[in-house]
Amino acid sequence: MARRIAFINEKGGTGKTTLVLNIGDYIARQGQKVLLVDMDPQGHIGKSLGVDVQCARYSIFDVLIEKTLPLKDAILPTCNGNLKIVVSNKLLTDLTINIAKDADRHIKLKEKLDEVEGFDFILIDSPPSLGLLTVNILLAAEEIIIPVSMTYLALDGCAEIISSINLVRKNFGHEGIHISKVIPTLYRDTPLANAVLNRLMAHFGEKLSKTVLRFDDKIDQSQSFGKTVFEFAPNSEGAELLANLGKEVMNL
Ligand SMILES: Nc1ncnc2c1ncn2[C@@H]1O[C@H](COP(=O)(O)OP(=O)(O)OP(=O)(O)O)[C@@H](O)[C@H]1O
Ligand SMILES: [Mg+2]
Repeated sequence: MARRIAFINEKGGTGKTTLVLNIGDYIARQGQKVLLVDMDPQGHIGKSLGVDVQCARYSIFDVLIEKTLPLKDAILPTCNGNLKIVVSNKLLTDLTINIAKDADRHIKLKEKLDEVEGFDFILIDSPPSLGLLTVNILLAAEEIIIPVSMTYLALDGCAEIISSINLVRKNFGHEGIHISKVIPTLYRDTPLANAVLNRLMAHFGEKLSKTVLRFDDKIDQSQSFGKTVFEFAPNSEGAELLANLGKEVMNL
């Protein structure tokens, strides 16, 4: 069965999508079969890989509202043969209204992922908010990775996610869920960034990734060119750091 890993932080812009894309691509380059599932209405996974997310035949929204539509029908290929994606678009904003009365509204994503075969890793990208989408993600995933950019508010978003995880464990009996890594992102050597990093180390200890994802312009640029950093700038510092993070996630 595939390892299901969700990348979550309620705070926006902490590097969730960047990590899902690049760690996913790295792991796929090691010969593992990887599926990226975009659960963010911003649709950044498809957009960052040059896919027109409005024109995809099926998005994750269609899969979640249509009982008989299997997730496999929404899977799209990428340039990397081992890396597949399910895209999202702004229709997903309406999911809550569409499924509000369904008894299984909290486990729609889990039910669909349970049917999928042939992958070693399923990585889920999340919106920068809490709500039914996030509950679906938390109930579908076993492992949670929290990217924390080196700001006070990202630390706050991290605390919110930890309490959501505890709620999901308690209210839905999802005992398997756990935080597998906390990844410092967008790091620059400033007093505030170092203070946040020290707090993360004190709180998370071994769960904090050994690699700190420094700010690297090539990472930002690669997204705007519709490529992962391994395609766009394989010899950059950003590619090296993301490869190290990919290794850490693979070896958990
Ligand atoms: N290490 C880095 N160095 C430079 N730029 C980065 C780095 N990590 C991410 N970025 C850039 O920062 C921006 C935010 O990153 P990203 O989209 O991954 O965050 P996010 O958490 O997914 O945001 P959202 O909450 O809006 O979905 C993007 O433009 C991305 O290219
Ligand atoms: Mg994102």
